[in-house]
Amino acid sequence: MKLMNTNNQNTDHVVRKFDVASVRKDFPILNEEVYGKTLVYLDNGATSQKPDDVIKAIDNYYQHINSNVHRGAHALSDRATELFENARLKVKNFINANDRKEIIWTRGTTEAINLVAQTWGRQNIKAGDEIIISTLEHHSNIVPWQLLCEEKGAILKPVNVKDNGEFDFEDYVKLLNDNTRLVAVGHISNAIGVINPVEKIIKLAREHNAVTLIDGAQAVPHLNIDVQKLNCDFYAFSGHKMFAPTGIGVLYGKKEILQSMPPWHGGGEMIEKVSFDGTTFNQLPYKFEAGTPNIEGSIALGVAIDYLNQFNRDELAAYEMELIDYATEKAKSIPGMRIIGDNCLKTSVLSFVIDGCHSQDIGMMLDQQGIAVRTGHHCAMPLMNALGLEGTIRASFCFYNTVEEIDLLFNGLIKARNLLI
Ligand code: ALA
Repeated sequence: MKLMNTNNQNTDHVVRKFDVASVRKDFPILNEEVYGKTLVYLDNGATSQKPDDVIKAIDNYYQHINSNVHRGAHALSDRATELFENARLKVKNFINANDRKEIIWTRGTTEAINLVAQTWGRQNIKAGDEIIISTLEHHSNIVPWQLLCEEKGAILKPVNVKDNGEFDFEDYVKLLNDNTRLVAVGHISNAIGVINPVEKIIKLAREHNAVTLIDGAQAVPHLNIDVQKLNCDFYAFSGHKMFAPTGIGVLYGKKEILQSMPPWHGGGEMIEKVSFDGTTFNQLPYKFEAGTPNIEGSIALGVAIDYLNQFNRDELAAYEMELIDYATEKAKSIPGMRIIGDNCLKTSVLSFVIDGCHSQDIGMMLDQQGIAVRTGHHCAMPLMNALGLEGTIRASFCFYNTVEEIDLLFNGLIKARNLLI
């Protein structure tokens, strides 16, 4: 398997040496028992587990800080505001944005993409315009564009996927034309782990004056992201897949484009002045942050970034590659096991089918052995359809997983297969 390139990390601080045994101690849930067996958690693509630091940050927030941000003239509100805005700064540095105003808090990737569709999209897309996505997308990077195209009479064009699960770049080149207004693609496929050539995709889109949006939900936990280097207009991701809680996520947008966009949700915080003669709107980033935000979620996302930044992330990525290589090799020992998304640049996701076995049956039998994987279409029905599959079994690894856990997965698969065939 080819190695991922994660080379933009600022390593000015003292780096904690990666050691899986010590890292596992940071994640209390990894000691949990299910059905009397120690949990083997291989569903990190769905959501990651949370380190102690993040759990404690949430507890600390409610014990010592809880208050509303930007509003109160009192000590707790000042504390909450400082930590909340500091977390925004951490996100800015984490993805190397140019300005903290380019970081908009959302509930997650889905809300971030919908925000762009409903503001930039409604303002800029008209009948006959074309939006390019890919067949590999998660539904959250398909349906918002379908809704927009339906409303505006615009055309949604998906780039084909190759038989091995790769983005078909030649097809992309054919689809791009002077009517292309937006190219919106995932950085990494959630269903099969394939890494899309986003640098090349963005560069070509820009040559056609198309706006670019990258769904980075599966990429931020594994790769160093540098939005300035990528030169995308928008980048969306979720906290919960990168060791932070659910309900918090980020939309990055270039300042000029965010400034040109109308607001989306109306309410408190997003206004400058409200009157019955007309309302004016707040500056970035607040123009897009109506209502009381997820304060503890933002702060905890900042702590999750601190957690990741202790390490040399190249070391984490290299370890995750060892895990996927080990699992890929072991797959050869199971008759009828086919990896989907093989022989291509990918992250630590083993998505597969076993001939003669239904994915859900395998998932249930693994669960009985304490092994958590995801089965089904993975919210990527068009991809499954294009590959002629009903669904797959997906084991998605994180740097806290071990080769022993992969051995348990394969022992479980052999048992399940023997019972089913
Ligand atoms: N999008 C998440 C997944 O791939 C839920 O499992």
